[in-house]
Amino acid sequence: MEDDETKYVLAIDQGSTSTRAVFYDHSGRKVIESTKPLSQKNDKNGWVEQDPDLIWSSVLSAISSAMIDARIHPEKIRAIGITNQRETTVVWNKNTGKPIYNAIGWLSKQTTGIAKQLREEGYSDLIREKTGLVLNAYFSATKVRWILDHVEGAQERAEKGELLFGTIDSWLVWKLSDGRYHITDYSNASRTMLYNIHELKWDQDILDILHIPVQMLPEVHASDEVYGTTENYQFYGVQVPIAGIAGDQQAALIGSMGLEPGMVESTYGDGAFIMMNTGTKPEISDEKLLTTIAYGMNGKVYYALEGSIFTAGSALKWLRDKLGLISSIPGSRIAAKRSNNDNEVYLVPAFTGLGAPYWDSSVRGAIFGITRGTNDDDIVKATLQSIAYSTKDIIDTMEADANIKISQLGADGGASRNSYLMQFQADILDKPVERAADEETTAFGAAVLAGLATGFWKDIDEVKSIHEPGKLFTPEISSQEREKLYHGWKRAVKAAQTFKP
Ligand code: G3P
Repeated sequence: MEDDETKYVLAIDQGSTSTRAVFYDHSGRKVIESTKPLSQKNDKNGWVEQDPDLIWSSVLSAISSAMIDARIHPEKIRAIGITNQRETTVVWNKNTGKPIYNAIGWLSKQTTGIAKQLREEGYSDLIREKTGLVLNAYFSATKVRWILDHVEGAQERAEKGELLFGTIDSWLVWKLSDGRYHITDYSNASRTMLYNIHELKWDQDILDILHIPVQMLPEVHASDEVYGTTENYQFYGVQVPIAGIAGDQQAALIGSMGLEPGMVESTYGDGAFIMMNTGTKPEISDEKLLTTIAYGMNGKVYYALEGSIFTAGSALKWLRDKLGLISSIPGSRIAAKRSNNDNEVYLVPAFTGLGAPYWDSSVRGAIFGITRGTNDDDIVKATLQSIAYSTKDIIDTMEADANIKISQLGADGGASRNSYLMQFQADILDKPVERAADEETTAFGAAVLAGLATGFWKDIDEVKSIHEPGKLFTPEISSQEREKLYHGWKRAVKAAQTFKP
């Protein structure tokens, strides 16, 4: 369109602890972003809940602030792309639009009993075959069951078709359109543990096992599609195409241009999520990596393998807040560079157990190799190195599972700003690591989907041409050194696993 040069794509990035609105212009430049913090209700038992109405108001507040700050008129918004915290579950009344309970967060532990019972009843293999996921409370299915069990009359109302379920993307589309669309995209559907990723439909067997009425579920669409428009009285008086949806880790893969099989993106946040594009065929992992849908684009569905590291950037927060070894997170880079020990200290950050490929929830964190000469800087360095070692554990597993040689790792997220970590990551992987120019590729991924769906950008080649390349870190250590270091890490993990509190 002729006047696209003067318009913007708006990416809504709705996360667990904050909501961001980011505006991109036609040249792919980030014009303005606004972030609003979002509270969570955390209790001592590990329950995590959020008010869905507050999530919605945080979206409007972030968009308003960005438009005011950059003096963008709502009519200048060409399309909206949504990316979101995945798995988090909302159930609402179809007629009133009111949630019947808080959103249950992806990290919430309140449904571990339901997941355990399903495992004991022997459903793990069936779930894995159909959904590609490990049977776990992390995904939406047990959260829906919990709400239907705990809100009076909910099961009956759901069966009558009065209640709707959605992940946060569905909830936001519903709100933006004032209830005209009840939809989600493939990537979010694949995180519910209710979606058959091979047949691309809600799985009736799983719905029967969990007694979840199919009429509660959203329609599943491609990630790059014009789903409809905003309702003008809900959205600054304008009707804007809602045109792209992807879960946040999948959007990061798209936003970093990880669109070919074998491309891998790691988002280094509090935890780290590593996702590998495996193309149009799902790879089933031997090592309990998750098989998931990356996105539906250009009429095709692309799959991914995903591995999660439970503790990454949060270990740096621990150094700062609990041990006081650093006064700021960026200070960890200087401390690590100052450390002049011989890399003989290993820290295993198993604060909440270890994820893939160990899957050991009983292991606790440990530090090995300390002497009287060990100082704060050495511990900080060992903590940063542990993030890189854990990432290598997953990358090695992905290569083995998919039988693909990974040539390079893309990196984004807060901890990716740490150059020491990025260099050590390249060294220990023996692969180049490209740190995204913009720390948050997630929002850009959502913008790409919406921009492509509406023709704001002609095709993916145009997007690639405007995508700013990141900074490349290349391996600098010898293979003997690498082997020695990684062997030490493996021994440290093994030793930590032998100590059960
Ligand atoms: O699967 C959870 C993931 O989507 C993380 O979301 O917002 O906590 O980074 P967030």
